[in-house]
Amino acid sequence: MATTAGAPSGTGLSQSRGLLNQRCLGFSRSSWGGASKLVSFPSSFSRRSVDNTKELQLPRITAVVKAQAGPGQMDIDLTLSPRVNSVKPSKTVAITDQAAALARAGVPVIALAAGEPDFDTPAVIAEAGINAIREGYTRYTPNTGTLELRTAICQKLKEENGISYTPDQIVVSNGAKQSIFQAVLAVCSPGDEVIIPAPYWVSYPEIARLADATPVIVPTSISENFLMDPKLLERSITEKSRLLLLCSPSNPTGSVYPKKVLEEIAKIVAKHPRLLVMSDEIYEHIMYAPATHTSFASLPGMWERTFTVNGFSKAFAMTGWRLGYVAGPKHFISACAKIQSQFTSGASSISQKAGVAALSMGYAGGETVKNMVKAFRERRDYLVKGFGELEGVKISEPQGAFYLFIDFSCYYGVEIEGFGAIDSSESLCRYLLDKAQVALVPGGAFGDDSCIRISYAASLPTLKEAFERIKKALVTLRPAVPV
Ligand SMILES: Cc1ncc(COP(=O)(O)O)c(C=O)c1O
Repeated sequence: MATTAGAPSGTGLSQSRGLLNQRCLGFSRSSWGGASKLVSFPSSFSRRSVDNTKELQLPRITAVVKAQAGPGQMDIDLTLSPRVNSVKPSKTVAITDQAAALARAGVPVIALAAGEPDFDTPAVIAEAGINAIREGYTRYTPNTGTLELRTAICQKLKEENGISYTPDQIVVSNGAKQSIFQAVLAVCSPGDEVIIPAPYWVSYPEIARLADATPVIVPTSISENFLMDPKLLERSITEKSRLLLLCSPSNPTGSVYPKKVLEEIAKIVAKHPRLLVMSDEIYEHIMYAPATHTSFASLPGMWERTFTVNGFSKAFAMTGWRLGYVAGPKHFISACAKIQSQFTSGASSISQKAGVAALSMGYAGGETVKNMVKAFRERRDYLVKGFGELEGVKISEPQGAFYLFIDFSCYYGVEIEGFGAIDSSESLCRYLLDKAQVALVPGGAFGDDSCIRISYAASLPTLKEAFERIKKALVTLRPAVPV
């Protein structure tokens, strides 16, 4: 299981137990056509710790299906790897899928769950992709990406971020998520600790677990704008600490680390030769002045130990193109490249041409990205004002990205007739989906159960409608906590 620096870890374990139980139930109910299923797990299964270092040593769990279709009978061992059993599926993907299914069934649901800009990919980028296909640029590229794109990335990182790399210090992947995964796999050994400030992007702890590492969660608070206290970081570092994951601007909070705080963090990191840093800067262009972005690798002594991760999904509205990258010292980047060479090989040739076009749009994406950021800012301001007026609700105004991470815990403890108790971010989200038909993501998925994440990557009229619906649903709940 994940350990929580400076806080008791019981909740995480019980959540994980629940999840394992759910997975057993879902599994035995699976509907493979024609086959009757006899899936059995020993009762100890649900009691297992999700500390995967221990899990790997446990006896194999055997699940057997008696397939009755076809001639004869065949027993199939359905055992999944302990690695898979230790990982939670992405909550944001699950809720987005659920909202889409409701919409298909005719429910007028407003989905504010996905981390995806509502804008179309800018035409100049789309054209470059179309031209790539027309011109037959449809073959494998070099594993680490085309020299053209890696050169453009180096130029971007130099000009916009003040960090120097050569093309052999870049690996282009099918999205930043793959870049992160490969970097974690490249440097973490079983039992190593990956330090993750909470609230965190849902995938970080799971990626650490998939690499047989242990996520160590460092809590932050809304009153500190969800910024990690460097002293708490210092206390969480052990001889097993291998990687610190930083995300600024943050998903899910929109917090932006000021340079001064990053400098304090860098001073602590510098004391630990084993500790590397992954700086996820995928939202860097979606930033609201006066906040400014600092690349962690640009701080004194940090280049040598930092993976700088970035991608095209967010600022360039290119989620479906699947294009991201990691930059870092050659020794580490070559290891990422080695993994990629046996995993997916190079990213799509078409997307890479589109990526070159994106980086040609001017400094920080030029006017086109500036206009998108302007729209995001208008939406943020509208929602911050609206939710800020609701009694008992706590907000830290986001300085970047397109999410609000709002503390609605004042509504916990309410019992709704015909619905049940609202006692967690999960139940409040279910209530809002049921009553307001707005899909949001429970903060528990990001490591903070008092909050809910609202993605404002939707048009202002849609957000206005969603806000009115949420407000109406909430005012029927009496704030459980006096303010
Ligand atoms: C913080 C953060 N990092 C990385 C990613 C991965 O982006 P992609 O794989 O689309 O490039 C996301 C996507 O939601 C994200 O929010």
